[in-house]
Amino acid sequence: RIFDQEDAPVERLVTRTVMSGAMIGKGSYRHFMQKEIFEQPVVIGDTLQSYVDPLSRRVTLPDMPFDFADIPRLTASACGTAFYAGMIGKYWFEQVARLPVDIDIASEFRYREAPLPENGAALFISQSGETIDTLSALRYTRDQKQHILSIVNQQESGIARESDVVMKTLAGPEIGVASTKAFTTQLVVLACLALAAGRARGSLSPEAEAELTSALIEVPAQASYFLEREAQLIEIAHEMAEASDILYMGRGSMYPLALEGALKFKEISYLHAEGYAAGELKHGAMALIDEHVPIVVCAPSGPLFDKTAGNIQEVIARGGRVVLISDAQGIEAIGDNVTHAVQVPEVSPFVAPILYALPLQLLAYHTAVIKGTDVDKPRNLAKSVTVE
Ligand code: G6P
Repeated sequence: RIFDQEDAPVERLVTRTVMSGAMIGKGSYRHFMQKEIFEQPVVIGDTLQSYVDPLSRRVTLPDMPFDFADIPRLTASACGTAFYAGMIGKYWFEQVARLPVDIDIASEFRYREAPLPENGAALFISQSGETIDTLSALRYTRDQKQHILSIVNQQESGIARESDVVMKTLAGPEIGVASTKAFTTQLVVLACLALAAGRARGSLSPEAEAELTSALIEVPAQASYFLEREAQLIEIAHEMAEASDILYMGRGSMYPLALEGALKFKEISYLHAEGYAAGELKHGAMALIDEHVPIVVCAPSGPLFDKTAGNIQEVIARGGRVVLISDAQGIEAIGDNVTHAVQVPEVSPFVAPILYALPLQLLAYHTAVIKGTDVDKPRNLAKSVTVE
C-alpha cells in the first residue's frame, strides 16, 4: 500500500515485470559478475538492434526535443563506471560529430555552478537511474533550461522519469556491484548517439556512417570470440594477485578505458590500481615503475599505436612488466618485448573501447576470485548510491 505525504492511501498502476527467473539467476556461473561478462555479446547485440538499422547501416534514434545541429555543446555527467563511459563518449562526439563535450563527475558538477549555454543539451548516464548525485546534476541542468537526454538501464527510475528523452541500454538486470554489461551497452548507445550527431551536424558522410555502423554491428561476434580466451587471463590474474600496485595505461579513447580497468580492479580485488594517459606517465607515475608493478596497456593498432608503443618501451626500459592488450598487428610489432600479450580481434579504433573492456573485466574478476574476495558484493560498496 502506498501513502502520500498526508498519509492518505494512493492508487498506483501495477505493472508486471518482464524479468524472468533466468535473467536474475546465476545459471551455471560462479558469480553474477562472471555471468554478466559472458552475457555481453547478447546484450550488446540487443542494444544495437534498438538503435541501428542493419540494412541501411544507419543509426535510428528516438525523437529528440532538439537537433544536434543546433546545440553549441553537450554537458555530460555521471558517476563511477558510467562516468568513464561518458568520457569515452566525449572522444566520439568530438571526433565524429565535431560537437564539444564537457564531462564532469556528477558529485562535482552539481555544486560547480557551471554556466551552461542557451539551447544547450545535457546528457546523464546511469545504470540504476537512481544515483543521487547524477539525479541532482540533472536537476541543476533542468533549472538552467537545458534539453535533458539520459542513458539508463532501469527504465523505472528517477533519472528516466525526469529526462526529456531516455535511451535505454538493454543490458537486463545487472546484479554484480562492479558494472560490466551496463558499461559496454552504455558505450554502444553513446557510439550510436555520436554517429547520429555526426550525421545531423554534417561532419559524417553516409559512407563513413555506414562504415562505423558496420564496425559496431560486428562487435557481438568479436566479443564472443574473445571471451573464449578466458584461460589466458586467469593465468595473468595469478601474477596480478601477487602485486600490490597495478597501473593501467592507454591513449585516446583507451585512456578513459584504462581508468575504468583500474576502477574495476580496485572495486573487487581490493588492490591498488591507477589508470593513466600514456603520454602523462612520464610526468609522475613513471617513478613507480619497477619489476613489482605490472602495467596493463590497451593499445589497438591504429593511428595512436606508435605513440603508445613508445611509452611501452620507456616502461620496459625501467624494468616494468607489461601486459599488452592489442590485436595481431600490434602484437606482431612489439609483442616480443612485453611480459604478456593478450590478443583481441582487429577492429576499427572507433569500437575498440567496447571490445577492449572485456579483457579488463576478466582480469579484475579472476584476480578477485584468486584473492577470495566477495566478488558480487565487494566490501563498502553499493550497487546504487542513493545518498550523498
Ligand atoms: C556505484 C556502483 C558503480 C556504478 C556507480 C554509478 O558506485 O558500484 O558500479 O558505476 O554507482 O551508478 P549508476 O547506477 O548511476 O550507473
